[in-house]
Amino acid sequence: MKKGKFITFEGCDGCGKSTQLKLWSEYLSGAGVPHIFTREPGGGKISEAIREILLNGKNAEMTDECEALLYAAARMQHLADRVEPALQEGKLVVCDRYVDSSLAYQAYARGLGVEFISKINSVALEKYAPDLTVFIDLTPEEAFARKHGADENDRLEQAGLEFHKRVYAGYQAVAKAYPNRVVCVNGRATPQEIFDETLRILKKREIL
Ligand code: TYD
Repeated sequence: MKKGKFITFEGCDGCGKSTQLKLWSEYLSGAGVPHIFTREPGGGKISEAIREILLNGKNAEMTDECEALLYAAARMQHLADRVEPALQEGKLVVCDRYVDSSLAYQAYARGLGVEFISKINSVALEKYAPDLTVFIDLTPEEAFARKHGADENDRLEQAGLEFHKRVYAGYQAVAKAYPNRVVCVNGRATPQEIFDETLRILKKREIL
């Protein structure tokens, strides 16, 4: 039985997630809350190796199914390597992306469907469901306008705006499907406002 709490951050590419995670890092360290920060895909030797395969622009011929299975594989290793031990130690686990990314990107945007993605992520969805998921709600049009200097080798960036619009629609569907677990915060607000709103929600949910 896990002891710590597990929270995840989600959103379209360029939604301001990294800025929020930086603010959270400062806050949690300052407040002396035992915690770890981690990210998907990645967070350990094997998962980082899978991340390199997934995000390498040279792997453009990868099938959508292969991509989805690699994300799910990296996820299971990451749960075993980083998430489970920290939860057992009673730490707060803050994860940058999790299974909702697979639902938004693979099930909805790539069109693999919720059934297939839920099936290959069933352990993550059921045994390791986050206590709370923060969706930073910013449309891809707004996110793209903010983003500069995207790495041209990044296979996912090349997928373009239409793909990211489907990702955004996917996140909206996920938020609707899991109304208790997923909270939407307004991505157009200032970083401090987004942080304050998230902190208020975490306190209300007794995660902090
Ligand atoms: P990353 O460079 O970490 O982007 P970000 O800072 O936006 O999180 O790349 C992660 C990419 O992987 C991002 O485009 C979303 C994608 N992704 C999926 O498609 N499915 C998944 O299950 C996960 C975890 C990520």
